[in-house]
Amino acid sequence: MKHLLTAAMPRDEAVALLDLAEDMHQIQDREVKKLPALRGRTVVNLFFEDSTRTRSSFEIAGKWLSADVINVSGKGSSVSKGESLRDTGLTIAAMGVDGVVVRSGSSGAPAQLADWIGRPVVNAGDGTHEHPTQALLDAFALRRRIHGGAARGRGLDGVRIAIVGDIAHSRVARSNALLLPALGAEVTLVGPPSLLPVAAADGTRLGVRAETSLDRVIAERPDALMLLRVQLERQAGRIAPSAGEYITGWSLTDERLARLGDAHIMHPGPMNRGLELSSRAADSDASTILEQVTAGVSVRMAVLYSLLASDHPSSVDGGTR
Ligand code: CP
Repeated sequence: MKHLLTAAMPRDEAVALLDLAEDMHQIQDREVKKLPALRGRTVVNLFFEDSTRTRSSFEIAGKWLSADVINVSGKGSSVSKGESLRDTGLTIAAMGVDGVVVRSGSSGAPAQLADWIGRPVVNAGDGTHEHPTQALLDAFALRRRIHGGAARGRGLDGVRIAIVGDIAHSRVARSNALLLPALGAEVTLVGPPSLLPVAAADGTRLGVRAETSLDRVIAERPDALMLLRVQLERQAGRIAPSAGEYITGWSLTDERLARLGDAHIMHPGPMNRGLELSSRAADSDASTILEQVTAGVSVRMAVLYSLLASDHPSSVDGGTR
């Protein structure tokens, strides 16, 4: 693996990354959370959009692997003086860094950066395009819930996952729609017609199914329900349908929670309680939300190790872009 720009990858590559993340996950139980794998390596987290989970967990992941981690954000950097992404990337690369983790509001920015700077690049979320480490951590958390201690080497074969909400604006939905079917899962994208992209309506093109009725999907008793954040900032300050209509049709309310059965409840965060799901749903035993956050550190350790560790077999050859 040379870069991680997309969640589109072969099953064996995804399972290998999830298994490596299982190895990394052991560190959670240790008193001293430090491995020497990336000693002497420097990673820059370049975040042009706000983030709590992704930026913190990449920083923790790098530090637990003994890398030096530098955080650069759009605000407070020379980007606010008009410097281009290319010049910012080349400037950082010229300082001798070994890898760059980038979040950008512009779809395709990480791929551009990868072409320009000649260093491993990780896509930490680009516009409405992709968020590959989110999809990997979602798969990791769900695989653990379903297979427990026997998760290694396994995919998510036959697991029925409904992804609900603002599909059109969601990089999380896109990356999961690429990764989860590769792991054998059956994915249904659920949302209001105005928030379902045209491509999703033709599910055969993506290998997923599209549905507009959350109630019909709940009646099918899915194994997992992933609620997406309603992205107010990508909808020019308004949502269509209205918040009230959204709650009526697509929110995991207490009433729908009662009909959901044993499904695992997932959300990438940050969540809007009362809009995408009720507090009772978010805080229930079925919720994997905090397990997803914990998984984020393990998965990001696995990604950084795969890209940057000199003793990792794929760190010196080509592979997934
Ligand atoms: N899930 C996610 O990307 O969260 P942050 O925006 O907090 O990083």
